Amino acid sequence: MNSVLPGAPWLIAHRSMLGINQPYKLTLNHQDYVLWQTTKGKIKALSNVCPHQQAPLSNGWICPDHDVIVCPFHTLTFNDQGQLCRDGKPEGRPLVNSLELIVKDDFIWTYGGHEPRLPIPELHQQLVSDYEFVGVAVSRAIQGDFLSNVLINYDYNHQNGTHRDVLRIKDNYVSLFEQDGYQATVIQGLNRTDNSWQELVGNPALLLLPKKYEIHLDYEFPSTTVVRTSLPTGNLIQMHLLYPESFDVTRTIVLVFAQFKYSFLKAFSSAILKGVALVVEQDAAAIEMSYPRQIPKIRLPNEEILAYAERLYRDW
Ligand code: FES
Ligand SMILES: [Fe+2]
Repeated sequence: MNSVLPGAPWLIAHRSMLGINQPYKLTLNHQDYVLWQTTKGKIKALSNVCPHQQAPLSNGWICPDHDVIVCPFHTLTFNDQGQLCRDGKPEGRPLVNSLELIVKDDFIWTYGGHEPRLPIPELHQQLVSDYEFVGVAVSRAIQGDFLSNVLINYDYNHQNGTHRDVLRIKDNYVSLFEQDGYQATVIQGLNRTDNSWQELVGNPALLLLPKKYEIHLDYEFPSTTVVRTSLPTGNLIQMHLLYPESFDVTRTIVLVFAQFKYSFLKAFSSAILKGVALVVEQDAAAIEMSYPRQIPKIRLPNEEILAYAERLYRDW
């Protein structure tokens, strides 16, 4: 199987993305899968290809009485082991491959059928245990290889260009960069100029963002960048997740968690999700408009952090 970073743990979905008894289609390393969550909260995953005449199972539906998925073409049913079922009773050996999942609280991980090369990170649970889940800001397929998508998260010089009309960053600095194998921590300070009234009205989440602030980034290569921001109004976590759909397409999912100092700030939840989505959209546009990667002829400050991430990718 030709895969990007085989053996990496991929965080493919948050439980809130699945609904109950609703097929959810997912592409990981060129393979399509269907996931569903049962009424009891169990999460199941199969290859998406019906073994009869190759219809996509994700276009079918779940029969909750027997916890089976029904193919939309000729209504054959399959259990989570991939066995054909009649009236809920399995017949014979599995005909559809199942996908092994590791579900930790609301985080759904998989190795995509590969031998694990890294453990499932602990960071995610640790970070969110004291936080409230705000929502999924974005789940978007980006036309771009995995390396380009991962590197933008380690790039400390793109704010003033890529995000200029949202964040209005005047200058920024990196005060800490520590790395330990596949994990790294960065602290970055940012100074902004004022947003216009039109920008604030269009993106009210900017009202929460001071002129001067620090972000604390925790990296778990290759799947995760966690951005922690302490604001006068509370603390915010953005969990930026990546996984390869194919060699040219990368999925990004951003989950947002918060500790609001005052409960009325919850009214900002949808504005925060929209504001985060806008920034991700700008990153996606930067990746999608760029020409194929070449060896850079110019170096900017802090690019050793980029080089660190690129080395992890190339030495995998
Ligand atoms: S293609 Fe699935 S039942 Fe026929
Ligand atoms: Fe960015």
